[in-house]
Amino acid sequence: MTIAALFDPAVRPDPYPVYAQLRAEPFAVMDGALVVIGDHQRCTAILRDPAMSSERRRSLLGSNMGEPDELPPTSFLSLDPPDHTRLRKLVVKAFTPRVVSALRPRIEAIVDEQLGAVAGTGEIDIVSGLAYPLPVRIICELLGVPEADHELFSEFSRWLVRGLDPSLTITETADAQRIEQARTGFRDYFTDLIARRRTDPRDDLLTSLIRAEQDGDKLTHEELLGTCTLLLVAGHETTANLIANGVIALLRHPDQLAALRADPSLVDGAVEEVLRFDPPVQLTTRIIREAARIGDVDVPADAVLLLLIAAANRDPAAFDEPDRFDIRRTPNHHLAFAAGAHFCLGSGLARLEASIALSAFATRLRDPELDEASLTYRPHVNLRGPDHLRVTFNG
Ligand code: HEM
Repeated sequence: MTIAALFDPAVRPDPYPVYAQLRAEPFAVMDGALVVIGDHQRCTAILRDPAMSSERRRSLLGSNMGEPDELPPTSFLSLDPPDHTRLRKLVVKAFTPRVVSALRPRIEAIVDEQLGAVAGTGEIDIVSGLAYPLPVRIICELLGVPEADHELFSEFSRWLVRGLDPSLTITETADAQRIEQARTGFRDYFTDLIARRRTDPRDDLLTSLIRAEQDGDKLTHEELLGTCTLLLVAGHETTANLIANGVIALLRHPDQLAALRADPSLVDGAVEEVLRFDPPVQLTTRIIREAARIGDVDVPADAVLLLLIAAANRDPAAFDEPDRFDIRRTPNHHLAFAAGAHFCLGSGLARLEASIALSAFATRLRDPELDEASLTYRPHVNLRGPDHLRVTFNG
């Protein structure tokens, strides 16, 4: 087994048998520069280890990313302390659980509107009709992006995310130009919006970030841009994929869907199980600063550790019957939001959006059926989710 198997487009519909093989033991590729790790215990320990670095990993994994000055603005996702701590604290401050829970009525209204739009038609594309519009509208409203620009934002996000696919060689694809346009367009758009908010502050996250100060440190313009990009990209496609992957899992396990329909209070457990069973972020990386032995591998200093979250989430050493989808599973210590210092900052928002969307899906659509032939997956190795997902229903 080599890591190449994961990059084979034929495995996109079901990469889990490949993950099961990759998980068996850590192994090195690229002359030891990259070490692949997929067991739950090691992945958790590495994510929690403050000695592991998150710096520059995207350029190492995604060789398509070009020179550092061509990279999207730096976000704290790929920074180490002290910069990571400083920037993360600023966002945490503006993104409290209170801010998130106050969004519940708005999320419910959007889900209601999206599902209301297909009532009586007997079919819905879950991707374009529910999973994508919800998180983009919420993150735009949080940031303070005017409604008229939401569509544009969705488009930016789509291409920014495409540009992060480690399996993509941008120079060989017609997508390269679109990705570049999205990077420039997003930067110009936000530069303009930030300037407007400086002179005309509003009650939104962007204004809070502009105002935020930590130990006398303001965010620089680049850091502000990087943070906005991170919130858009991290908060949009991932949450959309969680909702869509959840719908697929429920439709493929009718007993679980029936249980949820009968008892909607199971929805939080259902969201956790989707996060474990089919995680929207399948892998991440860390850089090991000092040489070490991991399993049977002598790992040199500065090697990249490729952590297979999706493999760890189905590790039989950590979960009973890991290939079984069980919305009542407890405990459920999956790694879908990572762990340690970079633990997903938007997990509360993602969980809230997914729980509202999945419980509305389970209770409002009668006799839903998955049109398996319509199901195609995005070609992304890291961010897993469908492109199209047609569901038919009665009424
Ligand atoms: C970090 C997953 C939704 C904002 C992360 C990481 C993962 C992740 C795995 C850590 C990556 C690493 O350490 O290498 C997810 C999943 C989501 C989701 C699966 C949806 C189901 C969101 C949302 C937001 C968000 C809705 C914000 C609106 C962030 C931020 C970080 C992050 C800011 C960086 C944290 C840091 O570096 O300290 N996310 N995320 N995410 N996520 Fe999420």
